[in-house]
Amino acid sequence: MTQVPARGHWAADIEAAALETPAYVYSVDEVCRQIRALKAALGTPVIVSFKACPNQDVVSRIPVDCWDGVEVASRGELHMLAGLRSRHLYVNTPALTDTLVRAALGAKATFIVDSPQHLHLIARLRGKRPVLPVMLRLSNRLVNQHDSSAPTLRNDQFGMDIDQAYEAIDVARSLDIDIRGVHLFAGPHTFGRAGRHVVGTMLDLLPRLEQRVGKHLHTINLGGGLEENWYAKGYDFAAYRAELARFPHRIEVIHEFGRAIFAAAGCFAVRVLFSKIVDGQKYAICDGGMSQAFLLAQTENILRKYRAPRVLGRNRAQPNGGEKTVIVGSTCSRDDVIGETHEELNAGDILIFENCGAYFRSYSMNNFLQLGGPSVYVM
Ligand SMILES: Cc1ncc(COP(=O)(O)O)c(C=O)c1O
Repeated sequence: MTQVPARGHWAADIEAAALETPAYVYSVDEVCRQIRALKAALGTPVIVSFKACPNQDVVSRIPVDCWDGVEVASRGELHMLAGLRSRHLYVNTPALTDTLVRAALGAKATFIVDSPQHLHLIARLRGKRPVLPVMLRLSNRLVNQHDSSAPTLRNDQFGMDIDQAYEAIDVARSLDIDIRGVHLFAGPHTFGRAGRHVVGTMLDLLPRLEQRVGKHLHTINLGGGLEENWYAKGYDFAAYRAELARFPHRIEVIHEFGRAIFAAAGCFAVRVLFSKIVDGQKYAICDGGMSQAFLLAQTENILRKYRAPRVLGRNRAQPNGGEKTVIVGSTCSRDDVIGETHEELNAGDILIFENCGAYFRSYSMNNFLQLGGPSVYVM
C-alpha cells in the first residue's frame, strides 16, 4: 500500500510567520518526506529535478542520505548548486553549450547526452579532465513505436531515436567516452498511464543497446512524470515494482522527479487588498497573482478550473451565502484570475494556495509591470 506522507507542522508555522506577500513558502521537511515516500513506493533511488524548485536554500538542506542526486538543465542551475554535497550531479539539456560543458566537467557531473553532437562537444572541451561515463537520452517516441498498447505520448524534441542512439554509441566509442546507461522520460503527468509501457520499452531495448555498446550497461533512468499528490492517485506501486524487477539485477533503475517531490512542499500566499462588486460579481483584488504565480491563472488551459485557496488563520470555513468571489491579481490583464472561492473574503485576509511548490515560482511572466518578485521563505 502506498504510504501517504503525513503533513508536517509547516502549514501551521506559516500562521505564525509575518508574511510579506506575495510569497512562496517551502518546507524542507515536506520535501524530504516526499522523497522518502517515493523511494519506498518505487523501490528505487530518486534524483531531484532542480528545475521544479530552483532554490538552493531548499535543495541544499535536504540531508545527503535522503536523496540520490540532482539533475540540472542549465549553467545557471549548476552555478546555484556550487558546493552542494550530492552523490550524483546530472546535466540534462538538449541546449548544451561550451560554458555549460566546461562547468559540468569542473563539477564532475554526469552528462545525459541528448544527441551525438553532444559527445563531440564534450570531447572537444574535456582537455585532460576525465569524463564520467555518460547516459544516453532516448526519445519518448520509442515508447509508442515499441508498444502499440501504450497511450499516445506527446511528441517532444528531447532525446534520440534509435538510429541516433546507435550513432551516439559508435561516436562515444570512437571518442573513448564510456556509456553508463540510458534515460527515457515519457513527459510530465505520464506516470499513471504510461509508466509500465516505459518499463516495457526499456526492457525491450536494453539487450539491443548493450549489444551495440559491446558491454553491459549499469543504469536506467526512467525520468519523472508523477503527478502532484501522487500518493492519493491510487496507483498500484507493488505492480510497478514487480515490472521493475524484470530488469536484470545488475541494472540500477532510478527515477528523477520534480513535481512529485516539490508540489506539496510549497504554497503561494497573497493578501487581499480590496474586495469589490461589479454588476453583482464579487472580486477580491490581491497584491500578487499571475506575475508571481503564472500557472495559477491557467492561461494555457482550455478549461480553466480555478483553485480555491484557504484563508490564513481561519479554522472554519466562512461561507459567503453561496456567492462566488473571483480572486484576481495585481496586473492589468483580465487573465489575471488566480482562484475562486465561496468563502467570505475581506481586505487584509491572506490567501494560501497549496501545492504550488513545483514549477510555480519560476514559470512566471518576468517582471510584467515591474511588479517585482515574491518573497521566499524556507522553513
Ligand atoms: C529530464 C527531466 N527529468 C525530470 C523532469 C521532472 O519531471 P516531473 O516534474 O514530471 O517529475 C523533467 C521535467 O521537465 C525533465 O525535463
